[in-house]
Amino acid sequence: MIRLDINGKGYTVDVAPDVPLLWVIRERLQLTGTKFGCGIGECGSCTVHIDGQAQRSCQTTVGSVQGKKITTIEGLPENHPLKKAWVQEQVPQCGYCQPGQIMQAAALLAKEPHPSDAKIIEHMNGNLCRCGTYPKIKSAIRLAAAGGKK
Ligand code: FES
Ligand code: FES
Repeated sequence: MIRLDINGKGYTVDVAPDVPLLWVIRERLQLTGTKFGCGIGECGSCTVHIDGQAQRSCQTTVGSVQGKKITTIEGLPENHPLKKAWVQEQVPQCGYCQPGQIMQAAALLAKEPHPSDAKIIEHMNGNLCRCGTYPKIKSAIRLAAAGGKK
């Protein structure tokens, strides 16, 4: 049995410790906001927070995160400045990559509330978007960092 703390709630799941966290989150716990993209750590669509750090859940075994605080997109408050900025800037197109983008960005702002453009680009670099929403993602992060005011 594996015990997990996800979005402040305790779960017990009967899976092998080497199963990817992404699979457990989506298939066992039906927290489907976190997306499966590449499955090899290359796209960022599966990004969650582990003890506040952005991490690829497709590359994280469930056994390695027992006793750690896991946050998925469902655990980020609806009034989080990034979620509001994402709506204001109308960032998503197909939307598939966006939960991962927001979780990646949230980890940055938690550590660095006013990042430079260069820092935003560097931090978001590994999160791919087939729809090319990169300029809007950057604008939304800037907007959230500025307290929602342009
Ligand atoms: S699905 Fe995990 S990085 Fe692409
Ligand atoms: S919005 Fe479509 S992949 Fe990013």
